[in-house]
Amino acid sequence: MAVSISRRRPKSSKKLEAKQSYFGFTILYNFLSRISALVFLIILIYLWSSFSTLITGNIIHVCFSTRKLNSLYCLSAETGKFPNIPRLVTTRNRVDMNDRDERVASAVKVVEEQLQVHRSWRSNKNYATCDGQGIYVYDLPSKFNKDLVGQCRDMVPWQNFCGYLSNEGLGEPIANLGKGWHKTHQYSLELIFHSRVLKHPCRVYDEKGAKLFYVPFYGGLDILRWHFKNVSNDVKDSLGLELVKWLESQGPWKRNSGKDHVFVLGKISWDFRRSSETLWGTRLLELEKMQNPIKLLIERQPWHVNDIGIPHPTNFHPHSGNDVVSWQMKIMRSNRKHLVSFAGAARADAEENIRSILINQCTSFGNDKCHFLNCSSSKCDEAESVIELFVESEFCLQPPGDSPTRKSVFDSLISGCIPVLFDPFTAYYQYPWHLPHDHDKYSVFMDKKEVTQMNVNIVERLSNISLRERENMRRYIIYELLPGLLYGDYNAELDKFQDAFAITMNNLLERVSRLDEAHKD
Ligand SMILES: *[C@@H]1O[C@H](CO)[C@@H](O)[C@H](O)[C@H]1NC(C)=O
Ligand SMILES: *[C@@H]1O[C@H](CO)[C@@H](O)[C@H](O)[C@H]1NC(C)=O
Ligand SMILES: *[C@@H]1O[C@H](CO)[C@@H](O)[C@H](O)[C@H]1NC(C)=O
Repeated sequence: MAVSISRRRPKSSKKLEAKQSYFGFTILYNFLSRISALVFLIILIYLWSSFSTLITGNIIHVCFSTRKLNSLYCLSAETGKFPNIPRLVTTRNRVDMNDRDERVASAVKVVEEQLQVHRSWRSNKNYATCDGQGIYVYDLPSKFNKDLVGQCRDMVPWQNFCGYLSNEGLGEPIANLGKGWHKTHQYSLELIFHSRVLKHPCRVYDEKGAKLFYVPFYGGLDILRWHFKNVSNDVKDSLGLELVKWLESQGPWKRNSGKDHVFVLGKISWDFRRSSETLWGTRLLELEKMQNPIKLLIERQPWHVNDIGIPHPTNFHPHSGNDVVSWQMKIMRSNRKHLVSFAGAARADAEENIRSILINQCTSFGNDKCHFLNCSSSKCDEAESVIELFVESEFCLQPPGDSPTRKSVFDSLISGCIPVLFDPFTAYYQYPWHLPHDHDKYSVFMDKKEVTQMNVNIVERLSNISLRERENMRRYIIYELLPGLLYGDYNAELDKFQDAFAITMNNLLERVSRLDEAHKD
């Protein structure tokens, strides 16, 4: 294990990887500086897998090793800041595993309590009438949004982003898959939400009639353009700081200290929570002034109650309710000739990794039992190949990717393929408004440890699930969940359906109306 740590040091020849490896390395270094190296190594040997929970001093780190970058990805919660998490005591000489399990259990309990709070804001009302429920969308100076889109050509060094950001963030159409399918990038939510909220029936132009304030800052694009360039932290933080300064001059922000404001950030929370030792990302969400507003993200920081997870955008953006119904009919009737499929890539350097084990298990069966779409050798970025496979599969394996959540979970659900999850942070601790608490209704869970340590064969385990159970799950996914996981197109009129956007906006309005009532009391 110690050897693999040193392999995570940057190699100057691979400059993109270098920065991210460096990011992983500094986090390790940070741990090392907090506890003795010996204890650290013991913890590492015991706990290291593709997912581990480390506790150092009064900080809980949930760490994931990442595929592309061979580095660590950690979510950290300072227990001091979160009074509900018991203060932790570092054991210097021995690692008490029972004690550790207990602390992890209480950290998980806090996550579950927060999700319960989020769920309590779920609304069944239809806000189409909007009485007293105005949404005000700030008209920000263009440097905070449109100008960032204008930098699409060299936003990342290896790819031109302009096509992805076209069509108000939906991307170019994909003719093969039919009406409503687009080459949507997974970081496009900032644009997709912005164009929808401008047309929301509750939108008001006078801030006095508003209850909810939408800040259309494209913070994900802001950091994306710096991720792979050698610039100082000051440069990365500057636009976010300017934005906060701009907001502080606005009356509505001052009135409630931002509590009724909402941001949609199209990347994962950690990208906005740079710790003092790393170079990765901005500090936007660590700024004191940014604590009050709600932040909607494709992956939340599990110990921040104002971070709320919303579905990763998929490639399907229906315009009408009929578009949804014809897709539902198509995938209900589909001939699912593969029992299991996995679209992904192994991680170099990690034979023991859950992905490698799943790939081995999968490829040892015939194609009808388990189909492996090798993303190292074929283009999984192209939606057609993945969606066509998922539509023909009963179960889709979803081990954690570069971070715990995966766009692929949503690709799988909207294809009627039952997702098989290995880590509760992949979905269960993320999307309280769009996925129900009872996850057995739409997914199969198998703890990573059962696969990596107990050698349970996932394909055999899944063959044991009866046809009737599969059918029930699939019906629930297709008829109950699917419409609410989609983001309709920019003019969508989905009649009887609420899409992921509508659900989100309704719940936000519900929450602010309760804030308002609490204020009056
Ligand atoms: C990044 O820029 C700094 C300051 O300009 C320079 O010292 C450093 O060598 C650069 N690093 C890389 C990896 O290019
Ligand atoms: C997946 O593709 C990569 C790159 O072409 C190759 O090295 C690897 O062996 C393939 N994996 C499997 C299981 O076929
Ligand atoms: C599948 O079911 C059979 C019979 O009930 C059982 O013996 C076997 O252990 C099960 N396999 C797995 C992997 O769950």
